[in-house]
Amino acid sequence: MCGIVGYIGHRSAQEVLLRGLSKLEYRGYDSAGISVYNEGDLQVQKVLGRLVALEQHIQTPLIGGQGIGHTRWATHGRPSDDNAHPHSDCSGRFVVVHNGIIENYQALREELTSMGHRFQSQTDTEVVAHLVEELYAGDLFTTVIQVIARLEGAFALGIMAKEEPGKLIAVRKASPLVIGLGDGENFIASDIPAILEYTRETYILDDGEMAVITKDGVDLFTFAGVPISKDVFHVTWDAVSAEKGGFDHFMLKEITEQPTAIRDTLTSRISPDGSRITLNEINLTDEVANTIDRIHIVACGTSYHAGLVGKAAIENLTRIPVNVEIASEYRYCEPIVTDKTLVIVISQSGETADTLAAMREAKSRGCARVIAITNVVGSSIAREADDVILTLAGPEISVASTKAYTTQLICLYLLAGHLAQVRHSEGANLIPDIAQALRALPEQAEQVLQTSAMIEKFARTYAAAKEDCFFIGRGLDYAVALEGALKLKEISYIHAEAYAAGELKHGALALIVEGIPVIALVTQDKLYEKTVSNIVEVKARDAYVLALAWEGDAEIHKHADEVITIPRTLPFLAPVLAVIPQQLLAYYASVARGNDVDKPRNLAKSVTVE
Ligand code: F6R
Repeated sequence: MCGIVGYIGHRSAQEVLLRGLSKLEYRGYDSAGISVYNEGDLQVQKVLGRLVALEQHIQTPLIGGQGIGHTRWATHGRPSDDNAHPHSDCSGRFVVVHNGIIENYQALREELTSMGHRFQSQTDTEVVAHLVEELYAGDLFTTVIQVIARLEGAFALGIMAKEEPGKLIAVRKASPLVIGLGDGENFIASDIPAILEYTRETYILDDGEMAVITKDGVDLFTFAGVPISKDVFHVTWDAVSAEKGGFDHFMLKEITEQPTAIRDTLTSRISPDGSRITLNEINLTDEVANTIDRIHIVACGTSYHAGLVGKAAIENLTRIPVNVEIASEYRYCEPIVTDKTLVIVISQSGETADTLAAMREAKSRGCARVIAITNVVGSSIAREADDVILTLAGPEISVASTKAYTTQLICLYLLAGHLAQVRHSEGANLIPDIAQALRALPEQAEQVLQTSAMIEKFARTYAAAKEDCFFIGRGLDYAVALEGALKLKEISYIHAEAYAAGELKHGALALIVEGIPVIALVTQDKLYEKTVSNIVEVKARDAYVLALAWEGDAEIHKHADEVITIPRTLPFLAPVLAVIPQQLLAYYASVARGNDVDKPRNLAKSVTVE
């Protein structure tokens, strides 16, 4: 996730920008750059790598009290010096930093190129600088209004013009941006920690708002240029909680970020009319796609659980048989791989040693192609795979994976749709309905987050005191139950088991005793009656049942002690919503037990050893 910092005032802009960017390092980045205005010149320095590389690269300090800086997390165009921000127009009259994705950048780039503009990078951002250049008629503010009217997608922007010193323009649509208010100085930043050293008075820009910033003032406007006023937000957090966005833990912040992460991961991967999946990053030719006769999905932990949902999605839409394999097993099991086997590896970090080794094993056995689903551009797995589908979740700091899982699911649904399209499978006819349902997910996830207080109560007053807990479900509900149980055990240290509900009576029912919490998932319509019978079975042994069911399911209240509902979607998308209450349950149980939520014992975020 990119980071933006901007400054205008009496201090050294270079120093403020570099210090501010260092406070945004937690967002993850692969390159960095700054631009500082001085005596009619917009000086730009940018490099691939960490901020220390940028500091070493700036041999002569950039003099000046006005500038913009950026840490880039590559999405369009690989990490490189050229693709690092700030970006300029043809003549270096304007500089731009950007966080987000300009969805229609390809069309704009073609249009601007045909008008004679020359591009230096492969980024979507650079179109903004050239558009400003194209439309500029002496007033940066009105030009930016015209420019943003042409942009589709998500964008937080910082912009400066050589001809208008003493002025920064800040724009926000769907990517965060705050303005810091100082005395004879003002700031912009993607997040509060970047400016907390200088000021606690801020404006938090909302979507569709922009600002003209000088050292002595900030004027706020809508995208139509209508002046607006906003309350000043006084930040009371200390530096550590500011990094967590005011949340007590990264895990809760990351759970809460899921609607945005899902939206970002979907962005530009569905055609505007919703009729097609547009996974342009995949170079799988139609010929190869049509010869594939089996798929292996390989991953560890939470990513493996995402793979189980992916299997159902792919088999459903394409009828290609899919095996989901634990990477540490796959690498040693002499897997049967042919040149018709497509291998999908899933890894948040892109560095998990077993997944990397399993991928190499499949390659050495001559698989048709490896597609990696990962959250980290430039990671080992991303570099070695033939194709990469990025989960645009932003960095995940908490050891327990949350937003990476939901965005992995989104990528798997998109990939399933893409394969169905290419192979002209019957399932391709469902794509318009699936696309519509996918687009509704961010808002529905937001709705599920509203159940937080109920889950907190259940976790605090009931679950946290127990030593064992069961999760049951059938079909996809079982796949998500496995993830719910993993979350609970890893951060609350409560022993948790997930069972295919129909399998209980083959052994585990012996463990169901009075008061044991059973989380029962009932979102798979075809299996509803069957799962309800299993709930009745555990209730007959005096278990305490919390059901996760569809909104409007009156029947389930007759069988469960407590019910948490999720809004209706297609049953095969239910895992995206059904996992959220389970993540919250694990979180609140862990808090109630006084555990170190973000760093559970014995676990590491990136498992780079076997
Ligand atoms: C659980 C969790 C782990 C990871 C696993 C794989 O919350 O985070 O189970 O999912 O270690 O990691 P990645 O996805 O980075 O390969």
